[in-house]
Amino acid sequence: MRRFVAAIDQGTTSSRCIVFDRSGRIAGLAQREHEQLFPRPGWVEHDAETIWRNTEFVIGAALEDAGASAADIAAAGITNQRETTLVWDRTTGAPIHPAIVWQDTRTAALCEDLAGTVGTSRYADRTGLPLSTYFSGPKLRWILDNVEGARARAEAGDLCFGTMDSWILWKLTGHHLTDVTNASRTMLMNLETLQWDSQICAEFQVPVSMLPQIRSSSEVYAEISTGPLSGVPVAGILGDQQAATFGQACLSPGEAKNTYGTGNFMLLNTGTTPVFSKHGLLTTVCYRLGDQPAVYALEGSIAVTGSLVQWLRDNLGIVDSAAAIEPLARSVDDNGGTYIVPAFSGLFAPRWRPDARGVITGLTRFVTKAHLARAVLEATAFQTREVIDAMRADAEAENLGLELTTLKVDGGMVANELLMQFQADILDVPVVRPVITETTALGAAYAAGLAVGYWSGTDDIRANWAEDKVWRPSMPDDERERLYAEWNKAVERTYGWAD
Ligand SMILES: Nc1ncnc2c1ncn2[C@@H]1O[C@H](COP(=O)(O)OP(=O)(O)OP(=O)(O)O)[C@@H](O)[C@H]1O
Ligand SMILES: [Mg+2]
Repeated sequence: MRRFVAAIDQGTTSSRCIVFDRSGRIAGLAQREHEQLFPRPGWVEHDAETIWRNTEFVIGAALEDAGASAADIAAAGITNQRETTLVWDRTTGAPIHPAIVWQDTRTAALCEDLAGTVGTSRYADRTGLPLSTYFSGPKLRWILDNVEGARARAEAGDLCFGTMDSWILWKLTGHHLTDVTNASRTMLMNLETLQWDSQICAEFQVPVSMLPQIRSSSEVYAEISTGPLSGVPVAGILGDQQAATFGQACLSPGEAKNTYGTGNFMLLNTGTTPVFSKHGLLTTVCYRLGDQPAVYALEGSIAVTGSLVQWLRDNLGIVDSAAAIEPLARSVDDNGGTYIVPAFSGLFAPRWRPDARGVITGLTRFVTKAHLARAVLEATAFQTREVIDAMRADAEAENLGLELTTLKVDGGMVANELLMQFQADILDVPVVRPVITETTALGAAYAAGLAVGYWSGTDDIRANWAEDKVWRPSMPDDERERLYAEWNKAVERTYGWAD
């Protein structure tokens, strides 16, 4: 039997390929960053051809790192930055515009138009989502409206839309497909039927013929026809946050994880019925295995967490690496009264305020760059607290039985022990990090491996999960509440800035 499963993780800041063994351990890894393009304030783009070249490169390099060839790989999974939107020519394969990244806010006015007199909840009962610049549907509409000739070519059937999973799959296999989790982030899919909603597509003026076919998250889609994985079946596709949920073995209703990457995304498995939030969370498809019923999740999406660390590094030059923020922040005892609210793309969950923009509050002559470093890390923990409060409120209202006895965490920022301790303190809940923090890639590998029988069932996923470290709350209650109240005051200062 083949030894490994490969996962391609096409993320916001980088593309990775990781080769896993049956115990879920990493046998080989390669990663390559790509440039973030900011052509105007609020616009964020990626070059899709560069991303494809990086993907090809990391596949070869990860196999080499594992000392493996295609003959050793049972299946490949794809996971991806979600919502990022691409349109390409069906014949030549050339993108007609750079990929519009999930953080991009260029569709703010369009979203207001689409909301009409009903408001941002216009499509919430069918899609689980508020109308927001975050999702793919408005971005696709923008491309059709703004790229010369695009609408006519789309109507003639000459263009393909895809999120990055579809783009990578199309490049690897020539097939135009997506999975239910990615489709659930477009605002064009009906959460109950798991198919494109023709009425919403018509109202968005998006021709259904340009959309990929929607498939489950774990099934054999097609064989790879190019490069070092030639002949290997692609058998799993999951959006990155759903993949991390799967990789963290949150497989029963009530189980949740929080991923600390470019942004933060907390997902709570709610089982086979979609639950609609009354507290600013999204309803999304968590995963669907083969022809089993889909499993849904409630999600709290925070746009800016790790990317605030990058901003401190790249835009302000206060640290020269992300890891350097921890010793700098530790050099002071507290935030010195300073709060940074990184509403760079407005505020996502649970507030959904497109009119918000970032602020630094509480500045006095006392404040140093070390206090700012601390405020950067604390912003992640406070935003997470807001999402968890919303999740608790929804869980209580809907009798969901949220098991928040500990919070399972993963993603690049969980290397930061100061942040993890502060997170436990601000939540008053222990925070637990698993041995494998590359849960996004692992989840995609699991989906692919299950489809081809490399793993025999989801019990294998549970058995592979292992704890690395736990942080326990130690902050006095009054201190916690004082800090959180000050954070709230700072957040209110962000409102009403963008018109
Ligand atoms: N030691 C650290 N302390 C604080 N933040 C860190 C640290 N190391 C990495 N980060 C932040 O973590 C983020 C990278 O995490 P990760 O690789 O999980 O991101 P990601 O969201 O998966 O990336 P992508 O969006 O490409 O998938 C970066 O934004 C970086 O600033
Ligand atoms: Mg990622």
